[in-house]
Amino acid sequence: MATFFEGESHTFSEYLLVPGYSSSENIPANVSLKTPLCRFKKGEQPRITLNIPMVSSIMQSVSGERMGVALATEGGMSFIYGSQTPESEAAMVKWVKDYKAGVVESDSTLTPDMTMEQVMDLKERTGHSTMPVTDDGTPHGKLLGIVTSRDYRPSRDDHQAKVATFMTPREELVTGTKETTLKVANDIIWDNKLNALPIVDENDHLVGIVFRKDYDSHKSNPDELLDANKRYMVGAGINTRDYAKRVPLLLEAGADALCIDSSEGFSEWQKLTIDWIRENYGHDVIVGAGNVVDAEGFRYLADCGADFVKVGIGGGSICITRETKGIGRGQATALIDVCRARDEYYKETGVYVPVCSDGGIVYDYHMTLALAMGADFMMLGRYFARFDESPTNRVNVNGQYMKEYWGEGSARARNWQRYDLGGAAKLSFEEGVDSYVPYAGSLKDGVGMTIYKIKSTMCNCGANSIHELQQKARLTLVSSTSIVEGGAHDVVLKDHNQSVSYH
Ligand code: IMP
Repeated sequence: MATFFEGESHTFSEYLLVPGYSSSENIPANVSLKTPLCRFKKGEQPRITLNIPMVSSIMQSVSGERMGVALATEGGMSFIYGSQTPESEAAMVKWVKDYKAGVVESDSTLTPDMTMEQVMDLKERTGHSTMPVTDDGTPHGKLLGIVTSRDYRPSRDDHQAKVATFMTPREELVTGTKETTLKVANDIIWDNKLNALPIVDENDHLVGIVFRKDYDSHKSNPDELLDANKRYMVGAGINTRDYAKRVPLLLEAGADALCIDSSEGFSEWQKLTIDWIRENYGHDVIVGAGNVVDAEGFRYLADCGADFVKVGIGGGSICITRETKGIGRGQATALIDVCRARDEYYKETGVYVPVCSDGGIVYDYHMTLALAMGADFMMLGRYFARFDESPTNRVNVNGQYMKEYWGEGSARARNWQRYDLGGAAKLSFEEGVDSYVPYAGSLKDGVGMTIYKIKSTMCNCGANSIHELQQKARLTLVSSTSIVEGGAHDVVLKDHNQSVSYH
């Protein structure tokens, strides 16, 4: 006889938090969102603590190198997508690790034989007026000069004039080297009354530019997630097939954590992958595993030595796994079950294995619910895909800006390693869709607002830390009519673009 799980399986939208007593100490400024990324023994500290409980999904349309930098700047961690060659994934990891905060890669580089007209066009498109000139027109070519808006006057000069005739040439430029710290760059800029300082390598190739406005990057990003060498931290997705080749390259590139990316992780393949990593690297390497949706799955992966366990099957916004295969579980129910198992495991063994809630977060408050239900952090796809820093195009769809977002199991990504069950390597049917999500501006602004909302709700629950929230939170299931009650209802909205529910 099959096993029947008791009760129904629920999603986040079916829950609400009932506020608890809050004291005058419960204000957002006092709330810490620090949370463990990886397993630790009672009384010890985890090797990595995230400063905000967010990681970005291991997906082509979400986690490229720019996402890696942007999210680490805010205190979370990206997991660079694994559905690419091990070499290109490792190059993305290295890009993040080599990134020097404040040193910007130019997106408007010129060659000496371009015309003033082309310079004006480029300025119009990028909005940037400081343009380095390199021999091959790439951001890392040999530096030949710089053009700023002080070098030409469109109203008077010949628009066909060549860049070489009006740029400030290399010999007149003050530059920094790769060893120049931001503080020194800052001093050079002030001493020489500059607006920008190009940084060059030992062969006089451009590395990037430090702009006047970026000096205080560290001061304005107090939560940034840095390693012992003050480099941004970044994670990387791996699969259960080519780890012997991929893992060494990712570690060499500097990956701080790995995560097995699989749609269903209660399997021997995950054990074999973790065993291989332990045999070759011991416990130095942090590796998360998943995805599972129940206590049994959690315990299996915890016993295999996973550093964290990811929960969620079928709840992702681009996911059609439940429709195509009929597997999965409501995300809230799965999370609650797994977090209970994590707490029991901790009591029994003295080892805490953090739980990551992956997929199905639609509203910001779902994140607070996930934390209250026991999640240590959340993995988000759709949420991050909407920002400037995701690797996809911004497109205008019927007058509204959108970003592209596609599933790893879609025909577009063809990430067969995530979905196959061993044997012949192929994705035989789709488990995800290709879609648009509304463009949402910069990650910094979006994450800033979300974090503020989470902290405010935590204050309503009388909690100044995630741990306290998990102890104190009081959750209630809501009926379908009270879900309608929760939105604006029985009023006529003045803004006709907003939808409204009626009883
Ligand atoms: P979202 O935050 O709701 O958009 O969900 C993102 C999560 O969906 C990812 O972190 C993956 O766990 C999962 N996912 C990614 N691609 C697919 C797919 O094609 N089908 C099913 N699930 C997917």
